[in-house]
Amino acid sequence: MAARDAGGRMRPPLIFLFFSILLFIVASFFFSAPRSTVVPEGFSDDGRTLVASSCDYSDGSWIRGPRSVAPRYDSSCKEIYKGWNCISGGKANARALLQWRWKPSGCDLPPLDPVHFFRLFRNTNIGKAVVWLSDKDHFTPHKNGGQPAQVGGKLESLGYKQGYQVDVDVPEQTWAEAPFFHDILVINTGHWWWAPSKFDPLRSPLLFFEKGMPVIPPLPPHIGFGITLKHMVSYVEKRMKPDGKIFFCSQSPRHFEGGDWNHGGSCRRVQPLLQEQVEDLFSLEKNGTNVEARLINQHLFKALNGSRFHILDITHMSEFRADAHPSTTGGKKHEDCMHWCLPGLTDSWNDLLMAHLKSV
Ligand SMILES: *[C@@H]1O[C@H](CO)[C@@H](O)[C@H](O)[C@H]1NC(C)=O
Ligand SMILES: *[C@@H]1O[C@H](CO)[C@@H](O)[C@H](O)[C@H]1NC(C)=O
Repeated sequence: MAARDAGGRMRPPLIFLFFSILLFIVASFFFSAPRSTVVPEGFSDDGRTLVASSCDYSDGSWIRGPRSVAPRYDSSCKEIYKGWNCISGGKANARALLQWRWKPSGCDLPPLDPVHFFRLFRNTNIGKAVVWLSDKDHFTPHKNGGQPAQVGGKLESLGYKQGYQVDVDVPEQTWAEAPFFHDILVINTGHWWWAPSKFDPLRSPLLFFEKGMPVIPPLPPHIGFGITLKHMVSYVEKRMKPDGKIFFCSQSPRHFEGGDWNHGGSCRRVQPLLQEQVEDLFSLEKNGTNVEARLINQHLFKALNGSRFHILDITHMSEFRADAHPSTTGGKKHEDCMHWCLPGLTDSWNDLLMAHLKSV
């Protein structure tokens, strides 16, 4: 799960490829204030849930109309990364995209009320809660600008000259301690498992290692991903407190149309996609540019099946939102059809997390 340059044993590692399980840990809250005497609906007074929800939040549609509450922040928020602040970046539909709200077919998804949230998670068991606020806080696995390192030994004799080592059974140090001290963990993963432009199968492959030794024969990324997930699940489950809540966030979809990110792909739509358009862009049969989100989810759902993890399924609701990326206002050489405008779609992910916290 931790990664470093393959075969770089005799010199300091050149490259740190983060394990592709990303943690959204935006804030740990420590409260010393006395517990509120108001017990919000659906919760016992220790903050545990009383109601079980059977709503499938991933099945629904986007409805345009006024929100019942004002936005929780605006473009003046200093925490917003410049390239994702679509209002100050001048994206034409940056305000319009906030008018859409997700309506699950079988229930409602109320907007997260920050005050209510803080009340609920004040004085939880050890006074900490972890939640994400935006998609800004990924610990993304990447190559840190380094070059792939030379490969030695068995791998070299198999024709591999260089690559990136991924230890499937070693947690990346950025999150290895997290299960010990968090009551609520939200984990997600990146697009990097399906990124031949980054991890060229010949020139810069992902090379999987287990117990410090290369896995022979070398695994294709999707198999290595499945094995890594299995290790991650058991690592986190064993260390998380019995009443800790663990979520895995499903894949955030990209919306490159007319080519991938490095081949002129764009996302200039000003309204959410229709259901047919979603299938056109994402169905496994069509195997289009952005298909990796559903492919990764297949592996995720398989690895998490029967585990203590709850799935925060943001994928389908987000697949509609081709209008909600920074696009040409992302400040990059290519269009940004991967990250999301803030405020924007990811605020609905927070609503979803809150709904799940009430029901797990
Ligand atoms: C999907 O498309 C990619 C290239 O775009 C190709 O390499 C891959 O083999 C295709 N997969 C299937 C299952 O058709
Ligand atoms: C989860 O496991 C159960 C039984 O072990 C199986 O019936 C079900 O199809 C699995 N679901 C997925 C998504 O793999």
